[in-house]
Amino acid sequence: MDHPDELVPHVLIFPLPIQSPVNSMLKLAELLCLAGLHVTFLNTKHNHNRLLRCTNIHSRLDQYQGRFHLENVDDGLPDEDPRTAEQFTEILDSLQSVAEPFLTEVLSGERFSCNSSKRPPVTCIIADGLYYYVLDVAEEMGIPFIFFETISPCCLWVYMCIPKLIETGELPFKGNDLDAEVKSIPGMEGLLRCRDLPDFCRRDCKADRGAQLVMEEIRNIPRAAGLILNTFEALEGPFLSHIHSQAPNLYAIGPLQLHLKTKLAAQSRELPAAVSNSFWVEDASCLCWLDSQPLKTVIYISFGSLKNITKDEFLEFWHGIVNSGQRFLWVIRPGSINGQKLEQHDDFLKELNEDTKERGLILSWVPQEEVIGHPAIGGFLTHSGWNSTLESIIAGVPMICWPCYVDQQVTSRLVSETWTLGLDMKDTCNRSIIEKMVRDIIERRCDFDQCADKLSKLARQSVAAGGSSHIDLDRLIGDIKKLSL
Ligand code: UDX
Repeated sequence: MDHPDELVPHVLIFPLPIQSPVNSMLKLAELLCLAGLHVTFLNTKHNHNRLLRCTNIHSRLDQYQGRFHLENVDDGLPDEDPRTAEQFTEILDSLQSVAEPFLTEVLSGERFSCNSSKRPPVTCIIADGLYYYVLDVAEEMGIPFIFFETISPCCLWVYMCIPKLIETGELPFKGNDLDAEVKSIPGMEGLLRCRDLPDFCRRDCKADRGAQLVMEEIRNIPRAAGLILNTFEALEGPFLSHIHSQAPNLYAIGPLQLHLKTKLAAQSRELPAAVSNSFWVEDASCLCWLDSQPLKTVIYISFGSLKNITKDEFLEFWHGIVNSGQRFLWVIRPGSINGQKLEQHDDFLKELNEDTKERGLILSWVPQEEVIGHPAIGGFLTHSGWNSTLESIIAGVPMICWPCYVDQQVTSRLVSETWTLGLDMKDTCNRSIIEKMVRDIIERRCDFDQCADKLSKLARQSVAAGGSSHIDLDRLIGDIKKLSL
């Protein structure tokens, strides 16, 4: 029997103000809407405006017949603030001071004109693990709360073990030996070196604000009603078992990119031609360009939505990639080369494109999921962000990893050593190494093909009827309905 309107579950989803978590949480939001739930998706005002400017999101959400609501909250920073990755902890602190009182008003029904049949009151919150303070608000208002960690679960497990590494004296590193083996992480014996730990482990964890936030996040996970992860059992089963010991109610429902597509197809709904959740306008001209390239010959290069590079690093990549003689599609975000002014960006790309038009294309932002899934793509030079990694796994495309921060160091180690899906270029940025790795990934693709094809197939099975992620999503939806009564 259907719930009467006021009992229809209404989930408030609150992602971190970064492209990747917004992407994954929007996919979850759409999956919940497809299951008949109401969802309010809360972005920061800054990112909300970017989404509206760069995508067709409103018309796309029409298909959910009024069950999908987009809302925004100010992050407390002036409009002109650049909101760079380096300022991330500042952004979070500023957002907290506004979001705490804002959410109290939301949950007490003073905002969003709730309590009507068009939008019932919020009955459950799903928020990023770094918003652990929202738990206090939710508990006070008696609203169930579920965490969603959008980073790689293998790294989440490493985060959970950091207190133990400090206790056993493995952290801080002895003598700064980055190649020393890390011993105290169950399930990762013989796998991780100090250089594969999250970047803050190279600093003083006790004094580092980023490390402090992560420790708070980990401490609060057991307080929530559940923990959602964007992964699938066949990829990270052993780590999920370990995480389970600290977070008993786990939902591994990924890869969400594929899960949403599969559900839409099962309901015979067509994906609109351009599905974009991007903060930058996607340049789809690359898809025609890719159509004219031979199968599996193009290396796709992108360092995600946050990473900036120095001019020297740019030059090493440029020479390495050009000297490799391979075809390439390279995303260089406006403002992502340090010291280069935004107004110089278009001319800079124009010049580069003139120089390389025979076998390269350089653009500001592309529809990445479609690009990686294109048959011309033979490899992905990536910063190992978790969404990029999952998108490569879905498409069965091998990777060259150049990790920088958050979960990337751990993820890239697994890509190269555990899943054997590519090469880890960690801690180097040298044109001859880049040249060799780009050649190897394209010309010696068969070294990775078998593992890449196998994992891609397992990803598909996990979201199909009867698959582990499919079952976990059904369980999540059932639990949200129960919690909402
Ligand atoms: C951040 C952290 O850097 C990462 O380590 C963590 O795992 C998640 O949060 P981000 O830098 O945004 O992530 O990288 P990633 O997780 O790879 O996500 C980037 C997203 O942007 C992907 O979904 C990708 O498809 C999309 N993208 C990227 C585009 O749509 N177009 C592009 O041109 C580049």
